[in-house]
Amino acid sequence: MSADGEAILEVRDLVKHYPLTQGILFKKQVGAVRAVDGVSFDLRRGETLGIVGESGCGKSTVAKLLVNLERPTAGEIRYKGEDITRLSGRALKAVRRNIQMVFQDPYTSLNPRMTVGDIIGEPYEIHPEVAPKGSRRQKVRELLDVVGLNPEYINRYPHQFSGGQRQRIGIARGLALRPEVIVADEPVSALDVSVQAQVVNLLERLQNEFALSYVFIAHDLSVVRHISDRVAVMYLGRLAEIGTDTQIYEHPTHPYTQALLSAVPVPDPGARERRERILLAGDVPSPADPPSGCRFRTRCWKAREKCARVVPPLEVPEWFKEGARPAAHPSACHFAEERSVVPPEEE
Ligand SMILES: Nc1ncnc2c1ncn2[C@@H]1O[C@H](COP(=O)(O)OP(=O)(O)OP(=O)(O)O)[C@@H](O)[C@H]1O
Ligand code: SF4
Ligand SMILES: [Mg+2]
Repeated sequence: MSADGEAILEVRDLVKHYPLTQGILFKKQVGAVRAVDGVSFDLRRGETLGIVGESGCGKSTVAKLLVNLERPTAGEIRYKGEDITRLSGRALKAVRRNIQMVFQDPYTSLNPRMTVGDIIGEPYEIHPEVAPKGSRRQKVRELLDVVGLNPEYINRYPHQFSGGQRQRIGIARGLALRPEVIVADEPVSALDVSVQAQVVNLLERLQNEFALSYVFIAHDLSVVRHISDRVAVMYLGRLAEIGTDTQIYEHPTHPYTQALLSAVPVPDPGARERRERILLAGDVPSPADPPSGCRFRTRCWKAREKCARVVPPLEVPEWFKEGARPAAHPSACHFAEERSVVPPEEE
């Protein structure tokens, strides 16, 4: 894994608004849910970018936009330099092949009436050029083997597998077309903790084996730390902060990240006692009516007058630039400052 490579995906000012309508016969738009509202980041070749944030902050919407299950309201997604949001027909199909998704819930994302062989091989129906008909069963057997399942299970049905095994089936399906990018939307959130580590390890092994780049989405910062090279923290449709795992976990500068980190369980009792817990006031505001200026201001203990007036840009704050401080990474806060909330991880 390397976090210094060229960008394979460049996301710029991505916006997805869902219209809010009123009336049954004559639908009138009365507003919009601003699910994603100006998100920019790069995914570098071979890296894992973690995206974390509370429920409803727009993570799955970003995932769907990246794999083209949804069309953005505005903004660009450049894949190897080309804006894929404007593609259609054959060009879109070719790009889609290279950016695949692994879904959260291994219980509902697999069709219960299809055999595992048909589920994993289904992408070949749309892309027969990847595996001609006669070779498909063999390819599916190989994929089962690659994800650690017995190839003899090819004729079984999803209900005959455990949650972890079903997620392996979902991953095999995601790999079928030999993509370059995998967007995994909470791939382990529905699994028992003991199984989560196995699936994360499998994803790491596959990344090396197939030179994959990952966007790994989770609501929990502790899950993301182990697998990510870089982490982006999302709040109410925007990014609060983005940086390497060390920058985000050891030198967080955005109050929202600091609050999230202060709630992450710490195994060491001594460290647990030393660290301070930041409790956030109030609930997440509605994405249909987000606060002006900084979206986090209604829950931020540092909010001042400027925060309501000016949207904080996602930039490296000037005061961290000098002397290459470890906290020098983009943070969307007018008053970004370091505050260590989690003791360094013991190696
Ligand atoms: N098709 C849709 N129509 C209207 N609103 C939607 C639609 N899809 C998502 N939303 C809204 O957009 C916002 C972001 O949703 P999204 O599913 O992206 O959040 P999330 O971060 O993935 O949350 P979770 O952690 O619960 O999965 C939410 O307020 C959601 O209700
Ligand atoms: S810009 Fe203001 S409200 Fe927003 S996180 Fe920073 S201090 Fe808090
Ligand atoms: Mg989601």
